[in-house]
Amino acid sequence: METKIIGHRGGVKGYPENTLVAFKKAVELGADGVEFDVQLTKDGEVVVIHDELIDRTMTGSGLLKDYTLSELRKMSAGEFFSPEFKAEKIPTLAEVLEIVKNLEVINIELKNFLLYPGLEAKVLKLVDQFKIRDQVIISSFNHYSLQTVKKLQPEIRTGALLMSKMINPADYSFKRGFDALHLHFLTADQEVIDKSHFMGMQLNVYTVNYPEAVIDLMKKGVDMIITDDLEMALEIREQNNNS
Ligand code: G3P
Ligand code: CA
Repeated sequence: METKIIGHRGGVKGYPENTLVAFKKAVELGADGVEFDVQLTKDGEVVVIHDELIDRTMTGSGLLKDYTLSELRKMSAGEFFSPEFKAEKIPTLAEVLEIVKNLEVINIELKNFLLYPGLEAKVLKLVDQFKIRDQVIISSFNHYSLQTVKKLQPEIRTGALLMSKMINPADYSFKRGFDALHLHFLTADQEVIDKSHFMGMQLNVYTVNYPEAVIDLMKKGVDMIITDDLEMALEIREQNNNS
């Protein structure tokens, strides 16, 4: 099957990560899907942001979980990147889903190290409201959180995010009933790709930002390439299909 090209936090060069403007552009560019990170505000709203601390990407400081949505909305979520994007606000999950709901792949990463109570159920509720169950894959570095997702809704696809080159990650993931491995691209060799497929799981890689690696991983047969540079990866796939 053809490798899917997925925009990491939106994945469009020249646009701030995890913002509505970036997701709109990703759709416009023809991405197969997008990946983004979700957390909970103090008042329990599911919002799209990568870091637990707001300092890097927002005009504020401290932990995201200590702010309500309306407090966060008073800050910019785009100015850190360029003054041009000053008007961008932190998006809610619902706002992002409204933009990306017709994409083939919607990869929601639960950034759940602070253990946001009820995050999994809230995300699943929105997935059902938007009727996008078949397009969604939920990933996390917190595998307990993925187990919670599976308990709440066994048919939703889950991907275990790993950073290090683990011994036998396919067995690890399969035993826990996950549907995919999401590996750092430098740890994805042919053996783990083939073994995951043999066990009926997807093998997806992040974050692939240079052409040689995109070409190599497509040849090796990964299912999804998550990239910060959608244009580059989509063009490589196009050239590959035409050669
Ligand atoms: O989901 C792949 C990738 O996004 C995981 O790393 O830190 O960019 O969320 P991070
Ligand atoms: Ca992520």
